[in-house]
Amino acid sequence: MPIIETQAIHKIYPNGVHANDDINFSVEQGEIHALVGENGAGKSTLMKLLYGLEQPSSGRIFIRGDEVLIENPQDAIERGIGMVHQNFMLVDSFTVAQNIILNRETKNGPQIDFAQAQAHTEALAAEYGLAVNPRARIADIPVGMRQRVEILKALYRGAEILILDEPTAVLTPSETQDLFAAIRNLVEGGKTVIFITHKLKEVIEISDRVTVMRDARQVGTVNTAETNERELARMMVGREVFMQVDRAAVTRGDAVLSVRDLTYADASGHQLLKQVSFTVYQREILGIAGVEGNGQTELAEVLTGLRPPTTGEAFISQQQILGQGPRSVRERQVAHIPEDRLTNGVALSSSIADNLIIDRYYREPFTRRGLLDIKSIVNNGIELIREFNIIAPDGTIPVNALSGGNMQKVVVARELSSAPKLLIAAQPTRGVDIGAIEFIHQELVDQRTGGLAILLISADLQEVMKLSDRIMVMYEGEIVGIFPNDSSLTEERIGYYMLGAERQPQAEMERYA
Ligand SMILES: Nc1ncnc2c1ncn2[C@@H]1O[C@H](COP(=O)(O)OP(=O)(O)OP(=O)(O)O)[C@@H](O)[C@H]1O
Ligand SMILES: [Mg+2]
Repeated sequence: MPIIETQAIHKIYPNGVHANDDINFSVEQGEIHALVGENGAGKSTLMKLLYGLEQPSSGRIFIRGDEVLIENPQDAIERGIGMVHQNFMLVDSFTVAQNIILNRETKNGPQIDFAQAQAHTEALAAEYGLAVNPRARIADIPVGMRQRVEILKALYRGAEILILDEPTAVLTPSETQDLFAAIRNLVEGGKTVIFITHKLKEVIEISDRVTVMRDARQVGTVNTAETNERELARMMVGREVFMQVDRAAVTRGDAVLSVRDLTYADASGHQLLKQVSFTVYQREILGIAGVEGNGQTELAEVLTGLRPPTTGEAFISQQQILGQGPRSVRERQVAHIPEDRLTNGVALSSSIADNLIIDRYYREPFTRRGLLDIKSIVNNGIELIREFNIIAPDGTIPVNALSGGNMQKVVVARELSSAPKLLIAAQPTRGVDIGAIEFIHQELVDQRTGGLAILLISADLQEVMKLSDRIMVMYEGEIVGIFPNDSSLTEERIGYYMLGAERQPQAEMERYA
């Protein structure tokens, strides 16, 4: 008997979007069940129905054969269902242990018993190999640990069925391996895991069975051992996906961004960028390879005016840009795809159309003679929604009613349509499906061929290698190598630099910088 099963589930959102259309989804006790499908296919919606965050429009849900009504997450938790969301839901100013016990506090008299909470957290963490520091504040811990906190929080509440909505989208490859080890521990301990991802390689690696959704429907459920990435891709997209980019050789032009001896230290004095110097030219993509957390984020944020540098210089077409704030950087025709779309990328309650002009509404054609030109804002929305295949009924929809990957497409569409000279793209394809990755990759390369200078930051080494003309490796805040991306450069070789095991001789670095 399945541990959880849906029968003829439909979900129609109040705005008329039919997000789940006759879903008969079934998961066996103790399995790792992957759920895949394009952006907007209805995966998160189905999971929200199981977790009580949304109500089905019709259909039935069974747990161990008993029909259940899951009216809210409280109900779901009582029935042993836990969920870790695509967008984390932790309280930043609280500690790890506080977050884990939130609303589940054991009282010691009128006081909350933190000692017990910490002990309990540590025991759970040790049992499943989910390393966290119970005393650290959420705001201060890396994203991989935040995720482990979310998982522990669900386990603390007694989850038997754990739903993980795109857990690996924000993880480095080695964090992903740690997560997979934890998932295997969970399943060995009798838990059941439902796992959403866009990375088909992960599906093959970790799951027992996989369900594919497309356009709100269930295409099928197959045993992982009897399928492969290519077949899954075809089931998802309904066509063959090649994931190849056409990167014609071009001669690079003038220097666009020149960075000289840039350093950055955080409030507690840690040197996160050390003497960073490099140049990005017209008609080239300079990719940064590196394990996340080696200064890439800080570099992008300093260059886009979100953080002040400590020392050093950066010029765009000979003009100094540092320390002047984001708007002034934008005015120099710098576009930025931020790594965290929810914090820096979109205004969640504003419409898609408004989000697409949020950086340029005060200019023509969106403002004329001091007045907003609604028609041109609407038309711009319609055009970009079509071009970037943003799945939405129309541009008036608030961004928070979009699926995760479609939010990302809004950010990418806005930035690529801003006619930039320089694009700083951090994790540009995070959370988007394979068809959209193919499109965004080609778009980045085409704009580069058309003259754009791109600084690409990605945790995905294959993405960096596929797109870049030159590759620069960062390790502990320093550049440890810069290479032309030719056939002599292999993933393995870059790997040594990423781990700090190798360092390019200074003279060679200067030649390619
Ligand atoms: N709160 C909401 N109100 C209205 N429509 C919504 C809401 N949430 C999601 N939708 C719509 O329902 C459809 C399915 O969205 P869902 O988030 O389930 O997709 P998904 O498969 O998880 O996609 P992704 O891979 O991008 O995360 C989309 O068209 C989305 O715009
Ligand atoms: Mg989703």
